[in-house]
Amino acid sequence: MDYFEYLRHFIQRDSALLTEIENESELRDDIQPSVEPELGKFLGLMVRLTKADKILEIGSGIGYSTIWLAEAVKITDGKVITIDNHERTHKELLRNISNAGLGKWIEIKHGNAEDIVPSLSGSWDIIFQDSGKYLYPLLYEQIFSLTRTGGLIIADDTLFKVNPGVRKGLGNYMDEYNKIVFADSRLYSTILPVGHGITVSLKLE
Ligand SMILES: C[S@@+](CC[C@H](N)C(=O)[O-])C[C@H]1O[C@@H](n2cnc3c(N)ncnc32)[C@H](O)[C@@H]1O
Repeated sequence: MDYFEYLRHFIQRDSALLTEIENESELRDDIQPSVEPELGKFLGLMVRLTKADKILEIGSGIGYSTIWLAEAVKITDGKVITIDNHERTHKELLRNISNAGLGKWIEIKHGNAEDIVPSLSGSWDIIFQDSGKYLYPLLYEQIFSLTRTGGLIIADDTLFKVNPGVRKGLGNYMDEYNKIVFADSRLYSTILPVGHGITVSLKLE
């Protein structure tokens, strides 16, 4: 067993549909990559740990990470609001959420994050940023304001600068994002080497 086979064989999926999406995604090159199963599980863990009931996801893709978040938010009977602007995969996203039986806990907002995020208000327990990489620095202050004190901002792919995979050229946005976050004394942050890196930030008092 190699490194990933070993770690992933321990990860029980919270929904059978997650395994189906993983298997299907492996055969496709027409969709953007979903988070790794270990990051999905980490998201589920963070929702359970913080007892989050108000979660914002920016970048739904075809719903893989959304399902991990929503399976956990069922416990508090809360809600995941997820934003994506993709036209072609929108129907797939709707279908996956419906097939997972999670419609009650998910609200999909179809459109540009840069238009939708400024229209949001309230105080969110967890904000998961996994959309267009240029949006990370651009939306940072708004995301910070929407996060409740004691809430988490989790950003995916933040080691692109040094570990870009095929997505070379996006590393500078991630580097800019990390510099902003780590200079912000209102947060307690770390980067974890999960997938292409995640920056996890706790909003302090
Ligand atoms: C990496 S994928 C998200 C994967 C998803 N989080 C998962 O793990 O299953 C990034 C998504 O961000 C969306 N996106 C990119 N730019 C966007 C924008 N300006 N507004 C809304 N969504 C955007 C893309 O359409 C794409 O579906």
